[in-house]
Formats: sequence, C-alpha cells, structure tokens
Amino acid sequence: MRLVRTDIRPTVPCKPRDPGWTYTCCLMKTLAATQETAVKRIVAELKHRPGPLLEILHAIQDTLGCVPEAVVAPVAEGLNLSRAEVHGVITFYHHFRRAPAGAHTVSLCQAEACRSMGAVALAEHARRRLGVDFHQTTPDGRFTLEPIYCLGNCACSPAAMIDGRLHGRLTPERFDEIIAAQAKSS
Ligand code: FES
Repeated sequence: MRLVRTDIRPTVPCKPRDPGWTYTCCLMKTLAATQETAVKRIVAELKHRPGPLLEILHAIQDTLGCVPEAVVAPVAEGLNLSRAEVHGVITFYHHFRRAPAGAHTVSLCQAEACRSMGAVALAEHARRRLGVDFHQTTPDGRFTLEPIYCLGNCACSPAAMIDGRLHGRLTPERFDEIIAAQAKSS
C-alpha cells in the first residue's frame, strides 16, 4: 500500500491563494494550459509502466494538488481506457482529492495500533478543533483533515503526519499546540 504523501507541494498548483490559478479548476471540467501540459507529460512518461493508472493519478495529484474531473478524459485516452473506468478508480480511493488541499495537511493515523492508543478520541478532538470532518478543508483554506492508515510509527501511537512531519504520542493538548503553531506560520 502506498502511504499518503503529505510532504509534497504541488508543482503546478491550483489553490485559491496562488495567483493565476483558480480553485474551481479542480471542480470544473477544464484545465489551465500549463496543467494540461503537465497531465499529458505525466501520462506519456508513465503509461508504459505495468498497471500505470494509479501511478499516474498519484503523480497528477502530486503535481496539481488534486485530481480534477478534467483529467479523466486525457488519462482515459492515454491509457486506452473508458472514462468510466478512470472515474471509478478516482472516486474509489479517498486519497484522490477532487479539490485542492488547504495550506496545511493534517493526517491522523486511524490504523489498529493507534486506535488502541486513543486515535479515535484524538480524531474527534481534531474534528471539533478544526470544525471539519475527514476529507474536508476548513473554510479559510488553512487545514485539510485526513485519515491515514499506519505511518510506521506504531511504537509512538497515536501518530499523525502534519505537513510531512511525523508526530507521535499525540494528545489533544499537543495537537492544539501544533495546530496553533501551524496557523501562525501561514
Ligand atoms: S498504526 Fe498508527 S502508526 Fe502504525
């Protein structure tokens, strides 16, 4: 299983704060020219790998910050798949975002070892603190909350990855401190 990577900043981003890009590009059916070029390059580079669809979708998300509806057609065409097949894979995996993440990505481990050490309660706290559920971004665009399933840090459960940095033995108080520090930095 490929872990969710939160340490990657999009190289061709589409965030509302970035000049020249529109938030809605991820929700609509069109790509900016530079994004379209990036998608075509990714498909051309990876389409000869075995079972390339997932790898291509990961690369698109790493590059654009999300997997917008508009990539379905060029990916399907490049891999000789139906649009329904590509759309089905994108919507099956929660990892693929349909809209860009916020400025900070908070991934809370919800796998077994962390659950046994309070990850569920920590997630409840995080939901209340940020005011969003998993797979959602705060209205101010600052934080995206995501579940993740084992960060390889089970000995220090409950664990989280926040902006690519691993945190262990998290408590609600420590979580609030980290979030407050991140909020100040943005
Ligand atoms: S189960 Fe959470 S880090 Fe392994």
